[in-house]
Amino acid sequence: MGSLAAISARISSNAAARYIVALAAAILAVAARWLLSPILGDYLPYVTLYPAIAFGAWFCGVGPSVLLTVVGIVGARYFIVVPRYSLSIPDVPQGVGLLVFCAGAALIIAIGELVRRDSASLQRAQSDLEERVQQRTAELAAANHNLGELSARLLHLQDEERRRIARELHDSVGQTLAALSMNLAAVGADIERLAKTATTIADSTALVNDMSSDIRTISYLLHPPLLDEAGLSSALTWYIRGFSERSKIEVELRIPENFGRLSRDLETAIFRVVQECLTNIHRHSGSSVAKVFISHADGHVRVEVGDKGKGISPQKRAEIISSPAAIPGVGIRGMRERLRQLGGTLDVQSNGEGKGMTVTALLPAEVAPPPMEARSAAASSLEASA
Ligand SMILES: Nc1ncnc2c1ncn2[C@@H]1O[C@H](COP(=O)(O)OP(=O)(O)O)[C@@H](O)[C@H]1O
Ligand SMILES: [Mg+2]
Repeated sequence: MGSLAAISARISSNAAARYIVALAAAILAVAARWLLSPILGDYLPYVTLYPAIAFGAWFCGVGPSVLLTVVGIVGARYFIVVPRYSLSIPDVPQGVGLLVFCAGAALIIAIGELVRRDSASLQRAQSDLEERVQQRTAELAAANHNLGELSARLLHLQDEERRRIARELHDSVGQTLAALSMNLAAVGADIERLAKTATTIADSTALVNDMSSDIRTISYLLHPPLLDEAGLSSALTWYIRGFSERSKIEVELRIPENFGRLSRDLETAIFRVVQECLTNIHRHSGSSVAKVFISHADGHVRVEVGDKGKGISPQKRAEIISSPAAIPGVGIRGMRERLRQLGGTLDVQSNGEGKGMTVTALLPAEVAPPPMEARSAAASSLEASA
């Protein structure tokens, strides 16, 4: 039906073609009727014209169909109606037959024209619709692309902001608290003889020291200075040691000795992946052990964080994997988006019922070997921050 309408539209667009096709149809119809003459004689002389007129009305329009009818009648009268090969004046029965045929032809042409117009307007509406769908699809693709860019920018700004707050906390509030702590210690020594006051002062000193230590920890967790100064290996060793102490979860860290430096973005991304995975293990898994394996081969860094807790159901896994990656900052989805921006991938696997889960991140990366001085600086920096 669709292809017939397309043929009709193609013929309709060319006026000369419409008349030529109609003329050809009339000639064919008269020829077909002539071939049937041994059987029909001059009985029903216009019978083969009906399908030809229906064809003309559908494909060629009113003008060509009228031409087809007239040529058909003249042809039939000349070649079929007795006396043959002359255009005699029709007698009364022939005249009535001719009038009935003309009325039938007019009806077919009128109905054909209505159907033709309907199908043409349907075709126009369809191509309009297709054009609009294509336009909307292009707009959607552009919007998706913008969303991806926006989320990358947001993640980058978040890292910068954390870095800035960490530095501010460490440099200003931390230093002031250290000075205050020293002052209080001095005052405490001066008034030691006033036992009661001295106790309060000692308590306050302890509180200030605790607060100072908390602020230092928060600042380091927001953005560990070791990450910029000494690299991933030292920062992870420091972070995992603190995490194990706070959470009582035993973490096994495997990272090649003298693991070199990566770009700042890659090191931050890997550190955040390990941080998020260990936080998830603490919050959701119920496991008392965890592992963090980092390796480098074939131009890729592979990060594997696993636990032996309650694991994750296939439905939950599918939910996490299929979520739109463009929503930043929501745990696993945030990590996936962060890695995607760096050309990497993140996979979440269940280790089996009650055997925990494993998160694997794969990132394209070239590891630069650390210079000798940097290695010893990293070691001493790690000792200092421990
Ligand atoms: N180690 C894990 N063990 C069991 N379930 C986990 C683990 N890590 C994540 N999940 C499940 O996956 C969900 C999504 O994690 P995440 O995207 O980090 O969001 P959030 O931690 O904010 O809930 C969690 O709510 C939790 O149900
Ligand atoms: Mg989480």
